[in-house]
Amino acid sequence: MVLITVSCVNNKEPKAVTAISKAWWKEAVVYQIYPRSFKDTNGDGIGDMKGIIEELDYIKSLGINAVWINPIYSSPNADNGYDVSDYRNIMSDFGTMEDFDSLLQGLHDRNIKFIMDLVVNHSSDEHEWFKQSRSSRDNPYRNYYHWWPAEKGKPPYRYSLFDAKGDAWKYDSITNAYYLHYFSQKQPDLNWENPKVRQEVFDIMKFWADKGVDGFRLDAFQFVAKDTTFPKLPDGFEKNFIQYYAMQDGLHDYLKEMNREVLSKYDVMSVAEGAGRNFKEAHELVDEDRHELNMAYAFDGVDLAKPDGYDLIKFKNTFTKWDQEFSKKGWLSIFLANHDQARLVSRFGNDSPEFREVSEKMLNTFILSMRGTPYCYYGDELGMTNIDFDSISQYQDIATINAYKKALSEGKDMKKFMSDLNFSSRDNGRTPMQWDDSKNAGFTSGKPWLPVNDNYKYINVATEDKNPNSILNHFRNMVKLRRENPVLIYGSYQLLQPKHPDIYAYTRTLDDQKMLVLLNFTDHNSSIELPQTRAVQKTLINNYNSVVAIEGEKVTLKPYQAVILSLN
Ligand code: NOJ
Repeated sequence: MVLITVSCVNNKEPKAVTAISKAWWKEAVVYQIYPRSFKDTNGDGIGDMKGIIEELDYIKSLGINAVWINPIYSSPNADNGYDVSDYRNIMSDFGTMEDFDSLLQGLHDRNIKFIMDLVVNHSSDEHEWFKQSRSSRDNPYRNYYHWWPAEKGKPPYRYSLFDAKGDAWKYDSITNAYYLHYFSQKQPDLNWENPKVRQEVFDIMKFWADKGVDGFRLDAFQFVAKDTTFPKLPDGFEKNFIQYYAMQDGLHDYLKEMNREVLSKYDVMSVAEGAGRNFKEAHELVDEDRHELNMAYAFDGVDLAKPDGYDLIKFKNTFTKWDQEFSKKGWLSIFLANHDQARLVSRFGNDSPEFREVSEKMLNTFILSMRGTPYCYYGDELGMTNIDFDSISQYQDIATINAYKKALSEGKDMKKFMSDLNFSSRDNGRTPMQWDDSKNAGFTSGKPWLPVNDNYKYINVATEDKNPNSILNHFRNMVKLRRENPVLIYGSYQLLQPKHPDIYAYTRTLDDQKMLVLLNFTDHNSSIELPQTRAVQKTLINNYNSVVAIEGEKVTLKPYQAVILSLN
């Protein structure tokens, strides 16, 4: 427990000082880079580490202080790096270990932490462990993976998220056995019951921590523990597979061991993808006294957006419930977009020409003014949008392509399927970064691995950098406001008027510092009456240039207007 000295926006001496347990990762604003799509320097159409190095000053200019980069290990790229074939090497598309070292140094020189993606629920089927494992039943690596001998008959059904048939067991004729893959056939699941597997993973983590990485994002980790007797699951279980796959027995023991062996020995942060099946499990993952992880991502918020929209009241309830659950203990991650989602403004905002800018600024204001560590996805600081592909041949993502095959074989309405893809496919969020209005948006001199969105002519870094009113500069201002005001990091959160259909209003309070956040989530003017407005002192951020319309207790917000006001 450390005492925080409050730096006040109103220049008053703090009256009281709250005891809060501080940590750098709580104060971080994390910028997520999808390396394949960030910047290509060798003309092969694929982003690389040298590209990220070239743009370090840009990254620094955002004001963020941590970067999470999706997997950069050697990989045959069935799932863009989430299928690792060598955990101690760098994917040749991305460069070399020397490039990695320079990148890490470049980030550290700028006081930016580096979070490494750790993909250890599964490896690639091209990893040496799997090659050995499949070669014979008595190979020492056999038990690194889950095998079901075919003479026992077909294994009990397990659902695969990425398989074209939805089947997580793949028959392998070499040893007449099935192996388990919760993701694609090229991503066999590792057997965490085997202490040797755990030791391998801990050694890999130490290898990177010794190099100086500052944290790990544990991919799909809530799935690593499995009941290896593989009992039959109830029919239709796959409709709620999280219930049957997440947080199985043994998981906490694995995390405690990881903490003991690695995490506790370095100044590294840890965040798990997935926060369990309920609040209790979410707490157990991140409770400081249990010595497991620092943070977990919950999907309840990000999952609310559907092709026909989402309900603001539910949105408010979801974020509020999560905040309340963690108000006394534990810490949250705040995000609405990442490489597994379509673009932020297209899903949660309004990407029409009239409202794209204001709605994206409003969403960034939200993410950066909530309690919890914000994770901001590359391109969302510019307002990049979904790309409208009209043929399946344009998609590259294994999840999308296999889901297409599955839907086709099940006789689904393919017209609807394709139109839903335009809203939901992960490739929407993976199109190349838009740097300027030159060919291929300045991303590559070659043919980009995924098409550049046509709107790069006006949505790009160079154009937005020059415009003080751009989404980019609003993002920078918002990051600065958060980082300079502990109330936005550690302050308590209180929802106001939960039932207001258009406006999300809340306060953040830390001792004598108080801020009021007002966000209009609609495309029309909307008013709200709040006694707090009588205490308004100053407008700290506003995504419109005009003065905020306050009359007594009534505030009227313009479409997608987002303001943060300091209160007396
Ligand atoms: C979650 C990652 O975020 C996603 O991109 C990946 O495809 C799966 N895990 C499998 O590793």
